[in-house]
Amino acid sequence: MGWSVGAGLEGKGVIVTGAAGGIGRAVTEAFATTGARVMAVDVDQARVDEMVAGLEGSGHVGVAADLRDIGSHAALVARAREELGNLYVLANLAAVLRRRGSLDEVTEEDWDFQHDVNLKAAFFLARTAGDAMIEQGQGGRIILFSSQGWWTGGFGGSVAYAATKGGVTSMCRGLARTFGAHQITVNCVSPGQVNTPMLLTGLSPEVYEGMKKQTPLGYVAEPAEMAGPVVFLASDHAKYITGSTINASGGFLMY
Ligand SMILES: NC(=O)c1ccc[n+]([C@@H]2O[C@H](COP(=O)([O-])OP(=O)(O)OC[C@H]3O[C@@H](n4cnc5c(N)ncnc54)[C@H](O)[C@@H]3O)[C@@H](O)[C@H]2O)c1
Repeated sequence: MGWSVGAGLEGKGVIVTGAAGGIGRAVTEAFATTGARVMAVDVDQARVDEMVAGLEGSGHVGVAADLRDIGSHAALVARAREELGNLYVLANLAAVLRRRGSLDEVTEEDWDFQHDVNLKAAFFLARTAGDAMIEQGQGGRIILFSSQGWWTGGFGGSVAYAATKGGVTSMCRGLARTFGAHQITVNCVSPGQVNTPMLLTGLSPEVYEGMKKQTPLGYVAEPAEMAGPVVFLASDHAKYITGSTINASGGFLMY
């Protein structure tokens, strides 16, 4: 095998979900820079259109979808294959966090909502994408998003969210075992604290400052700092990595 520092993603089809979010936007822009063709998926058409219009390269498409509608996944994946020419990468970032003050404040609706988006939709979309990659016969990359909560269990009111991310990490390993025979890798990125609406909504300034102190690198990451691990996992450089969870937390936790 010859050595190249390029990602090897030129002309490859990539789906990014949660693409209009803080990290999703940075990931989408990074994929466009590699020469990949990106389908940016999020709930609001105007937001994805505005983002896609500013992307480097060509052949990108913005799609509005609520991924809780599991029945829509097959058409979404089929559309990606048709409009991008192929599907090589699924980067699934779409997620919701309902941070509550304590365990007692967590409602059944909070539990279901977070599980429906973060875990259930992630499973069915990953399986649908993986099956499409098998049919194409060219291998592929599935990249899921976990969180440090998968390890800590969350703090009181965020335990339901943490449980979804524990599920994602576990599911990643199971999917990796099944899809490996087809040269489709399945991995997770586990961010620490990243400056996005998800982190900042309902967060007190004192807690924010405390997070910085608990992070050896001393600051809260910018979204672009999460794009590197994602592009790496999608690249040729990571072809022998599967079932792993990359801890991108600035040392907040070490595992
Ligand atoms: N920001 C952090 O500090 C942090 C830390 C750990 C993990 N994460 C994870 O990183 C990923 C990206 O998070 P972010 O910080 O960019 O959050 P964000 O809230 O900025 O973006 C999430 C995006 O997902 C979209 N989304 C939500 N529900 C959807 C649905 N049903 N269908 C389609 N799209 C939907 C939202 O519209 C939003 O644009 C998530 O998986 C999150 O759990 C973030």
